[in-house]
Amino acid sequence: MPEGTADPATGLKPDTEAFRLRTFVDGLKGTDELEIVAGTVELADLAAHMDGNEKAVLFEKVGPEGAEMVGNLVGSRSRIAAAFGVPEESLLAELQRRLAAPRDVVEIAAADAPVQQVVWTGVDADFTRLPVPFQHERDGGPYLSATIDVVRNPETGLTNLGCRRMMLRGRTEAGVDLNAPSDLQAIYRAAAARGERLPVSFILGAHPVDHVAANMRIPVDEVGLIAALRAAPLAVVRCVSNDLCVPADAETVLEGYLDEHGYSDDEGPYGEFLGYYGVMKRNPVFHLTAITRRHDALFQTSTISGRYIGRTDTAVLNTLKTESVVWRALQTAIRQPVAVYATPTSGGGFHVRAAIRQSVPGEARNAIAAIFGCLANVKHAFVVDDDIDIFDDGQIEWAMATRFQADRDLVVEGGFRSLPLDPSLDGRRIGAKAGFDMTVPFGKRAAGEWQVAAPPSLEGGQRFDSVRAALDDGPRTFGELMACLGTRDGRDIVLALDELRQAGALSRGEGGVYLI
Ligand SMILES: Cc1cc2nc3c(=O)[nH]c(=O)nc-3n(C[C@H](O)[C@H](O)[C@H](O)COP(=O)(O)O)c2cc1C
Repeated sequence: MPEGTADPATGLKPDTEAFRLRTFVDGLKGTDELEIVAGTVELADLAAHMDGNEKAVLFEKVGPEGAEMVGNLVGSRSRIAAAFGVPEESLLAELQRRLAAPRDVVEIAAADAPVQQVVWTGVDADFTRLPVPFQHERDGGPYLSATIDVVRNPETGLTNLGCRRMMLRGRTEAGVDLNAPSDLQAIYRAAAARGERLPVSFILGAHPVDHVAANMRIPVDEVGLIAALRAAPLAVVRCVSNDLCVPADAETVLEGYLDEHGYSDDEGPYGEFLGYYGVMKRNPVFHLTAITRRHDALFQTSTISGRYIGRTDTAVLNTLKTESVVWRALQTAIRQPVAVYATPTSGGGFHVRAAIRQSVPGEARNAIAAIFGCLANVKHAFVVDDDIDIFDDGQIEWAMATRFQADRDLVVEGGFRSLPLDPSLDGRRIGAKAGFDMTVPFGKRAAGEWQVAAPPSLEGGQRFDSVRAALDDGPRTFGELMACLGTRDGRDIVLALDELRQAGALSRGEGGVYLI
C-alpha cells in the first residue's frame, strides 16, 4: 500500500468527498427516494418511521443532541442501482465487471483524513455519546446496525470486512453477533484460541457501494474490494488506537478490539433479517478504545427486520451477494445463464430466480442443483426460459401457472445445511430445498401451443392488389393477408374472404391459414 497524501503521478490528493455518505444522501434530496423528517425524533421512535417505508429516511434532529441520521438507505434496489450509476437490471453485470477490475488503495496522512477531524479517546471514547437507536420492541438493548467491521487476518495479512450489528452494554462495551459462519467468525475463533485480542474498527456511516463490498464474502483483501466496487482509488487512514486502516472518507469510525475471552457475553434478542425475533446468544465482546469522526458526521442506521423485509437494508444488500454467488455457480453448471434475481421479500437469499437459455435437455435441473449447492441460504429455486422477465412477479406467476406440472417439474431434496434463523425449521439445523422447473419442455418452444400471443406488427408493406392475388401466391394467415395488402383495419379482408367463401373458392389449412 503506497503511503502519501497525493498521487505521485498527478500530485492530486484523493477525493474524500465523492463517496462520502452525506454526498450520496444529498443527491437523493428532492427525489422520490428520500423522506425527510424535520422535527426532533427520539431514538425509540426512529424505527416506526422506517418500518415498511419504501424510501430512505433522513432524520434531521435525533435525540436531545439533535444528531443527523439516515436510515433504510439501501432498502431498495433502485437506490443501490443509483449508487452504482446503472439501471436495476444491470446491477449484477456491473458488479461482476467492477469485481474484475481492482483499483488502488492509498494511505493518507491523518491531517488529510476527514474521518479524523474529531478524535475521542480515553473517557471521551463513549458509545453513549452517539445516537444509538432502540429498534424493535423486544431487542436486548440499543443497536448500531449499519456498522461495517474491518479486521486484519493475522494469518494471511488480508483485511476482512463485514456488516455486523453491535448491542450496547455500556460506555465502552458492545456485543457482536458472530454465530453465523463467516470469515470474521473464523478469524476471531483462531485469535481467541491463541488467547489474543483481535483489533477491530467499525465504520459507521458509509456509501451504499461500501456496504455492498462489506457484505461480500470473497477471499481477497476486502478494503481493496471497496475501491474496486467504487471503481475509484480509495484513500485510507491508519486508526489512532489500533493498526488498522479504514476509509478516510467515512463519517465515523469506532476503534477497539474483540477480547480474548471468546463467546462470553449474552447478546440479543434482536429482530433478525428474516423478520422475526432471534433468541439471545452467547457472543464475543467489543471494547471501544477511540471514536473518530467528521465535524459534521452523518449517522446511519440499517433496517433489518419486521413484516416488510423486502424493503430493509439487509435484504436488499443480501440480494446482490446471493446473485453474485449464484451467477458464478450457473456459469460453471450450464452453458447459458441469462439472468439471476434473488427476491428481497425472501430476505435476499431464500428465493432465487434464474432465466436460462437451454441448449440441451436437462439443463434446468442442472441449474436447480447448482443453485441448491452454492449457498446454504437458498431454499427455493425458480428456473425459467429466457423469454421470462425474472424481475416481474407477474411473469413468474404466469410461468408457474402455465409451464409447471408439480408431478413432473418439482424437485424436492432434504438434508441440507440450512440457516438456523429460519423459524420453519422448528429448531433443526438441517432443512429441505425445492426447485421449480418452470421452463417449456425442451425443444417445444417453437411449437404452436407454446407460441406466446402478441399484438399484431403487420410488417412488410403492400405486395398484392387483392386477397385473391395474395392467396394465389400461397396460403396465408389473416395477419399475413393484412400485412401483404397493406391494411391496418381488417374488416376489408373479412369481406374479401367472405366473397371467396361464397364463391366456394376458400378453405382453411393447418394453423388457421386461408387457402384457395
Ligand atoms: C445490515 C447487515 C447486518 C448484518 N449483521 C450481521 C451480524 O450481526 N452478524 C453476522 O454474522 N452477519 C451479519 N450480516 C451478514 C454479514 O455481513 C455477511 O455475511 C458478510 O459477508 C460476512 O463477511 P465475512 O464472511 O467476510 O466476515 C449482516 C449483513 C447485513 C447486510
